[in-house]
Amino acid sequence: MNGIASLLGPPLADTYDPTPLYFRVQERILAAIETDLLKPAEALPGERDIAEGLGISRVTVRKAIAGLVEKGLLTQRQGSGTFVVGRRQRMEQRLSRLTSFTEDMRLRGLKPSTHWLNRDVSLPTPDEAMRLSLSPSETVVRLKRLRIANDVPMAIETAVIPSRYLPKPEAVVASLYDALEANGCLPVRALQRLRAAILTPAEAALLEVPPGSPALAIDRMSYLENGAPVEFTRSTYRGDTYDFVAELNLRRE
Ligand code: GLP
Repeated sequence: MNGIASLLGPPLADTYDPTPLYFRVQERILAAIETDLLKPAEALPGERDIAEGLGISRVTVRKAIAGLVEKGLLTQRQGSGTFVVGRRQRMEQRLSRLTSFTEDMRLRGLKPSTHWLNRDVSLPTPDEAMRLSLSPSETVVRLKRLRIANDVPMAIETAVIPSRYLPKPEAVVASLYDALEANGCLPVRALQRLRAAILTPAEAALLEVPPGSPALAIDRMSYLENGAPVEFTRSTYRGDTYDFVAELNLRRE
């Protein structure tokens, strides 16, 4: 009980506030997140404890939590409870700098990590062969990863790299660009195409947001100094955490 009071404040009932109770519970939880009393990836106290601590019914607590789960601020894992996803803090990526995910997250003081979904060597699809200027018999390395920042899943990425630039796919541990750099094949130029998308149920599950949530789909084609294409990557970023910022300059001729 005491723990709940220091986390979510005193009981809620017995006031003349017309605001729906579940909404006030949500405000208390959000305030605890904003003030870092509840940190990302931390577990929320149990439903019963919250109900007792705030002097309300478990049904109301459930409704409040369900609403925050739907907004992507909390996540529920079967059997282990409810966890804080993070604050509604948006990250910005400048469109004019060629950075890797790892570098990008470190620049923000976040800890990048990766959950591997697939890593194989195979023949390119006709589309990939065309994009990467490959003969249909030249193999590619395909890396599918869930990219994570401070334990919050941020993006699903599938990178396709001609095998000749990455002869040992297992050399990619934390960062693809680090592995390419070690082989003397770091891209120096890239073209990105961004579009709005809706997450499929499978993608939403990986990114721990409700199915049908908005997303940013990004295709990146990267090139070496000599102009040869080195990477074709499809990324799906969570729409609620990422902003892309472009700097525009007036050209005076
Ligand atoms: C970003 C880009 C990808 C690129 C990746 C490399 O996420 N959108 O196109 O492959 O960075 O990141 P890392 O070196 O951390 O694997």
